[in-house]
Amino acid sequence: MRKGSYVVAGLVGIVTVVGMAIAAEQASKDIQLPAPQMDGGKPLMQVLKDRKSTRAFTAEKVPPQVLSNLLWAAFGVNRPELGERTAPSAMNKQEIDIYVASADGLYLYDAKTQSLKQILPDDVRAMAGMQDFVATAPINLVYVADLAKMGNGSEADKSFYSAADTGFIAENVYLFCASEGLATVVRAMIDRDALAKRIGLRPDQKITLSQTVGYPKK
Ligand SMILES: Cc1cc2nc3c(=O)[nH]c(=O)nc-3n(C[C@H](O)[C@H](O)[C@H](O)COP(=O)(O)O)c2cc1C
Repeated sequence: MRKGSYVVAGLVGIVTVVGMAIAAEQASKDIQLPAPQMDGGKPLMQVLKDRKSTRAFTAEKVPPQVLSNLLWAAFGVNRPELGERTAPSAMNKQEIDIYVASADGLYLYDAKTQSLKQILPDDVRAMAGMQDFVATAPINLVYVADLAKMGNGSEADKSFYSAADTGFIAENVYLFCASEGLATVVRAMIDRDALAKRIGLRPDQKITLSQTVGYPKK
């Protein structure tokens, strides 16, 4: 091999190793959640009796197992053979993505792998709503409709269906929280333009609602 070839081969090797290191570094920031626990919980009628909005939260973190159960209840895969979910969606488009804003960063829930992909390393909770408790409660779920998954319907239909589909997910979260003794409130008061820009959403990804989850301040 000529001297120049050795140099090129060496550079290619270095670039490959650096690329692999960057990929590993990125992958290490993603979080594999524990498998969701699909048994237990309070009886449905008691959960309906206890469901409510709460706007006072402690700073206590939500443990990974509880977060996994929460996200599965919200919009997890409950029929793996069909890839179908715990909440219905119009024409089964499954267009609602759940972003999780915590002190550790902003993550995107991947229901297929029950994992969280890190989108931002920053604490963006304060941007998830206009009320004071939003910045300090441990979790804010941000519901984002990916209109690109909804086909060629009218804008009015897409808007109506994605709002309805978000409502089912938010109610699942309300019911899970009532069962687990967690506090929650779904919220429309969001500076959507500022948050969408901070997350880096495409124009056809629309923030519908946000929902704060944590432990109730007594
Ligand atoms: C679409 C929607 C948007 C809402 N937006 C907010 C909000 O921005 N801030 C808030 O504190 N509560 C918000 N709420 C919660 C309602 O105020 C609450 O559900 C209502 O007062 C009834 O109380 P309950 O949930 O305890 O029955 C919203 C609820 C819905 C369904």
